[in-house]
Amino acid sequence: MSNPKVFINPKSGSIRLTGTVDIVDSEGKLIETIENPKFCGCGHSQEKPFCDGSHKGFLDKKD
Ligand code: FES
Repeated sequence: MSNPKVFINPKSGSIRLTGTVDIVDSEGKLIETIENPKFCGCGHSQEKPFCDGSHKGFLDKKD
C-alpha cells in the first residue's frame, strides 16, 4: 500500500488527497469515510469543505 498523497493546486487552491480518508469532527468522531477527497481552498465552494468546481468561474473572472 502506498502512502497517501496530497496535491495542492496553487492556482485554484484546491487540495486533493489520494486513498481512503476518514472525515472526523473536532472530537474525532467519524462523520464519513470517502475516497480521494478534494477540498476547497479558494473559499467559493457551496459544498465546503469539499471543492465543487466553483473556483473555475472565479478564476475565469480574474483573468
Ligand atoms: S477550490 Fe474552492 S471550489 Fe474548488
